[in-house]
Amino acid sequence: MPSRDASVGVFDSGHGGISVLRELIHRMPNEDFLYFGDSANAPYGTRETADVRRLTFAAARRLLDRGCKALVVACNTATSAAIDDLRAAYPALPVVGIEPALKPAVLAHDHVLVLATEMTLREEKFRRLLASYGGRAQIYQTPAPGIVEAVEAGDVDGPRLSAYLDRLLAPYRQVPIDAVVLGCTHFPFVREAILRSLGHPAALYDGGPGTARETCRRLEAAGLRSGRPGPGRVELTNSRPEAVAVSERLLHL
Ligand code: DGL
Repeated sequence: MPSRDASVGVFDSGHGGISVLRELIHRMPNEDFLYFGDSANAPYGTRETADVRRLTFAAARRLLDRGCKALVVACNTATSAAIDDLRAAYPALPVVGIEPALKPAVLAHDHVLVLATEMTLREEKFRRLLASYGGRAQIYQTPAPGIVEAVEAGDVDGPRLSAYLDRLLAPYRQVPIDAVVLGCTHFPFVREAILRSLGHPAALYDGGPGTARETCRRLEAAGLRSGRPGPGRVELTNSRPEAVAVSERLLHL
């Protein structure tokens, strides 16, 4: 049984999970967090599912070897590839995954654009979500690997990213898109750039806050919420150690 004073492990293919870590720190400022970004193997979204499952298990082991008391898969792609297998492999551990916030978007809007990775959009988890809520709104989907690439390079508002988004979102400028689901954890860093290229106002849906709430609930239910006064310690690690500086910058944006 891990101690309630142990860290919460947070994982993503690279820097994207930092957008979830921000929400986790906001909700539970007294917890310690250990973040692992796998930038050496990013992007995950264009890989085979089995490959992402293998990388996700390797990342989980790395965090658990450091004594983490819970695991947050802060990556929609890794969640769709491996969350069920992870839960089966670690039944005693709180394991929380993130998925595109489609439900709240379709409950409140008529024209919803889902931006995610290629793998997230093709995997069964998202297909099931679409089958449950797809009838309530007109849903458009498009993978956006160029955003992952830009954020991995530390670019959240540069001219190359803007040109990419202008091209990607051109077909949606004429459509009355009123909500955009940010279905990849790299995307919340480029909210402004997305809205600018879309050319009209839209509500943005990010799964990060809900994931932080769910993590808090799961820790409380397991009796694992830290009882120490805050602020907790946040340690950032990466499979490409020189990339930690980018994570650090994004955390404090
Ligand atoms: N940040 C990840 C997600 O939420 C994936 C990015 C990647 O392709 O590596 O889906």
